[in-house]
Amino acid sequence: GVTAKVSDLYGDIVDPYERPTKGLNTDHGLLVADTDTWLKVSDGDRTGPALLEDQIAREKIHRFDHERIPERVVHARGTGAHGFFKVYDARASKYTYAPVLTDPSRVTPTFVRFSTVQGSRGSADTVRDVRGFATKFYTPEGNWDIVGNNIPVFFIQDAIKFPDFVHAVKPEPHNEVPQGQSAHNNFWDFVGLQPESAHMIMWVMSDRAIPRSLRMMQGFGVNTFMLMNAKGERHFVKFHWIPELGVHSLLWDEALKIGGQDPDFHRKDLEDAINSGIFPTWKFGIQVIPEAREHDFDFDILDATKVWPEELVPIEIIGEMTLNKTVDEFFPEVEQIAFCTAHVVPGIGFSNDPLLQGRNFSYFDTQITRLGPNWEELPINRPVCPVMNFQRDGQMRHKINKGSINYWPNRHGIGAPVPRTDGGYADFPLKVEGIKQRVRSAKFQEHYSHAQLFYNSLTDYEKQHIINAVSFELSHCDDPVVYKTYTQILNNIDFNLAKQVAINVGGDVPDQPARQNHGHSTPTLSQPYYA
Ligand code: HEM
Repeated sequence: GVTAKVSDLYGDIVDPYERPTKGLNTDHGLLVADTDTWLKVSDGDRTGPALLEDQIAREKIHRFDHERIPERVVHARGTGAHGFFKVYDARASKYTYAPVLTDPSRVTPTFVRFSTVQGSRGSADTVRDVRGFATKFYTPEGNWDIVGNNIPVFFIQDAIKFPDFVHAVKPEPHNEVPQGQSAHNNFWDFVGLQPESAHMIMWVMSDRAIPRSLRMMQGFGVNTFMLMNAKGERHFVKFHWIPELGVHSLLWDEALKIGGQDPDFHRKDLEDAINSGIFPTWKFGIQVIPEAREHDFDFDILDATKVWPEELVPIEIIGEMTLNKTVDEFFPEVEQIAFCTAHVVPGIGFSNDPLLQGRNFSYFDTQITRLGPNWEELPINRPVCPVMNFQRDGQMRHKINKGSINYWPNRHGIGAPVPRTDGGYADFPLKVEGIKQRVRSAKFQEHYSHAQLFYNSLTDYEKQHIINAVSFELSHCDDPVVYKTYTQILNNIDFNLAKQVAINVGGDVPDQPARQNHGHSTPTLSQPYYA
């Protein structure tokens, strides 16, 4: 008999396919005698009409017809792997009581999905784009997701702009062009009118956006989260992944050639490395700001278009993650994994970062469309700890509850005690006051100092790569308004950058900088800024 292979990762799942079978079955368990020939009327010599009554054929075709689910609205192209995370010691307990970050005896299973942002599921790996770096930690306290990118900042400050940003970055609506790279009028039109993107654009036009390998990228939680310690103190935190292999990029020419010759370059590289026992490892770091220092900086620490310079807030390395197992089957693992920034564990919480607040709403919502309301019951998303609640029903419900109670409070006390005092998720009691209005504070309106900080930190050849990249991109925009507007944005960052790009793309060459370069610089990328 044949024993179908079942992943040993999900030990507690009863999988009917684990039982031996003599061969192929229908979904309702019938042993199939012939999977190659549709039942038809035939005298043996000539073939006659196929019969709809052939349930075996119909099931095979029906199941095939429904194999596709909606691809992710962003980050559709991706790959992933299993691994584990551990901290070195308990030093982070001064910031948090989360065991996943403070208990060195723990080995927490993880799954990481890497992705590009813009292209569809079938697009190429080596395009110029941000890379997603999303990690699910399966902890006994529940799942914790760090849904990060390989770039520490973002295009927009407020989540309400995300639909506009994504519409602008994705292929244009009238012709579905371009696929998988950002060179087009709409994208550059949007970011030209949206100076808060300037810092992110510097990163996206840098070599960071054409990584050599997924194993050679940093990861950043980007948003500002919070840590709570046992004394009830609150700290702001940013999360960092730092690859042991260092940060390495492709040259643009390499990226173009590899994209044509081997669109699966990155996913194959990850698979080959892990299957050869060369397990990629990332150090895990945190930047922490105590609550009392929230306003000590000339930028807002809740603004996702700004970094926390390491000279001001050093990274503390507290642990590491290793990826050591490729997936058994791509769809139920890489495609069905679903992340949610709102998924944290006790000891970790959220700041008022306006991008994060919107993300916390968006991810759960999008999973309902992509996977259905019971998406957290799928094997790859299921917590390793027991789950009991009175959420019920909905499409594709798997779980079967016993008993007559599906509400709280109930006469049997099922679900008690409420409220819990023994380790339930505790919201930080934060005093909130203000005027309900749609405003942005002054610090949120300054957009160029960190773009300059990044540009100044680059070596001359890295700056030249940015000039080349922006010139390449803007030269694909045929509307002069677009490339002329963007040159003006660049002139707020660096005069030479703006001048060279304007010369290359035929824009208006500026004769003086729009804004003084404040001259701040950080170590160059060759002495990695974040490593
Ligand atoms: C997907 C990162 C901002 C909505 C993703 C993924 C990553 C990511 C890594 C792919 C997850 C996977 O591999 O399955 C980020 C980062 C952001 C950001 C770092 C900025 C700090 C936003 C915002 C929104 C948003 C502001 C909406 C308001 C989505 C949606 C998906 C997604 C709807 C698709 C999820 C799915 O279908 O599974 N994001 N994102 N993101 N993101 Fe974001």
